[in-house]
Amino acid sequence: MEKYKIGIIGYGGFGKFLDHWWSKLDNIEVIAVADSGQHYHKIKNYRVYHDWKELIEDQKIDIVSIVTPPSLHAEMACAAMLAGKHVLLEKPVAICREDARRILEVQKQTGKRITVNHMIRYNPIIRELMQIGESGSLGQLHHAVVNNYAQDESLAENHWFWDEQISGGIMVEHGVHFFDIINALGRQHYQKVNGASQSRNDKQRDRVSALVAYDKGLTASYYHAFSGPGFFERTTISLVYDLARVEIEGWMPMKGKLEALTESKNAEAFKRIPGWKETKKEFIAKAGDDSRPEGWGEGSESASEENRVVAGGIAYKADQIIHGTFEITQSKGEVYGKCVQEILLDLILNIEDQNHKLAVTIEDAVEALEIALLASDKSV
Ligand SMILES: NC(=O)c1ccc[n+]([C@@H]2O[C@H](COP(=O)([O-])OP(=O)(O)OC[C@H]3O[C@@H](n4cnc5c(N)ncnc54)[C@H](O)[C@@H]3O)[C@@H](O)[C@H]2O)c1
Repeated sequence: MEKYKIGIIGYGGFGKFLDHWWSKLDNIEVIAVADSGQHYHKIKNYRVYHDWKELIEDQKIDIVSIVTPPSLHAEMACAAMLAGKHVLLEKPVAICREDARRILEVQKQTGKRITVNHMIRYNPIIRELMQIGESGSLGQLHHAVVNNYAQDESLAENHWFWDEQISGGIMVEHGVHFFDIINALGRQHYQKVNGASQSRNDKQRDRVSALVAYDKGLTASYYHAFSGPGFFERTTISLVYDLARVEIEGWMPMKGKLEALTESKNAEAFKRIPGWKETKKEFIAKAGDDSRPEGWGEGSESASEENRVVAGGIAYKADQIIHGTFEITQSKGEVYGKCVQEILLDLILNIEDQNHKLAVTIEDAVEALEIALLASDKSV
């Protein structure tokens, strides 16, 4: 089998993680690494470059993986495509709109394939929820709340993460993951973005929030704090659809619960969510709806029709209420590793057949960046 040859630029924390997981794939071979800072002399049997420009000229390499701090992404991605390479670029796609636009232009000019590592789209919980949402059986997504309390114990004060000229700031460096998932789940485009932030000192803006209004009725709020001990690290994502409520836990989603008004034929799809356990099922006709207290006058006739539920002015068919939980049984590391394998395999499918639709297009990544920039009071 012809193996795709990968060269990794940036062999720090995440570059090593990618190498670890990609080395387990049959049709992939990491053959080269470039890192300016670490002065590696030998890494496995790889070709080691100290200048990334030499790596992108290496004729043996098919795909360049760019895993350097964000401010370097655009220059490296454009140069790699112009040198004839396909690119798997780390998020964020860039730290400003002009750089992102340049990547889009070079991609069109060269026709090289590129994706951006918004790997949470490959998480099996998110993937199934995207598909169920797309089927229309949950109705419209109206409200999303992302609360992300991350630890900062491993982020020293002089880490590039805190330097917004390098990272773009928390919204750009990190928030893009969550803007991207909500974009994917809601299948809507942002219209208006407001942001607010707090800083612990004049160098570390460590708590950021955004309120985003989308074009088909979704409003989403986001909060990211890198200001607590690891013990309190916690991420929750709440999704409010016309016909369902979903609570997801984990920045890498690992478990959660769902309740939905549905018909039995649509409820079958819930079984595809990893570790799905139905905990309760009631028929709407028999279940009490206590949203109106005893003695209240008649409601609208349409709402009380059999197998009919009205939400947001839309009449849906539903005859039962299903409650359930879901949970991935693998470790977080395994799920993460599988996600980064899948995005690389997806890119390869797109290299082999341009009609294969990438789960994360460059346009998706640019849209997440635009929201992040607006939330950081920067123009797009
Ligand atoms: N998709 C994800 O889930 C995910 C997770 C973590 C990090 N990331 C992204 O990966 C990127 C790197 O993050 P990290 O945590 O590995 O950072 P890091 O600081 O651990 O590693 C970055 C590496 O890039 C090298 N580097 C810097 N400038 C270079 C240059 N000019 N040429 C070659 N190498 C250079 C550094 O020496 C370092 O080894 C960032 O964009 C980050 O947002 C993505």
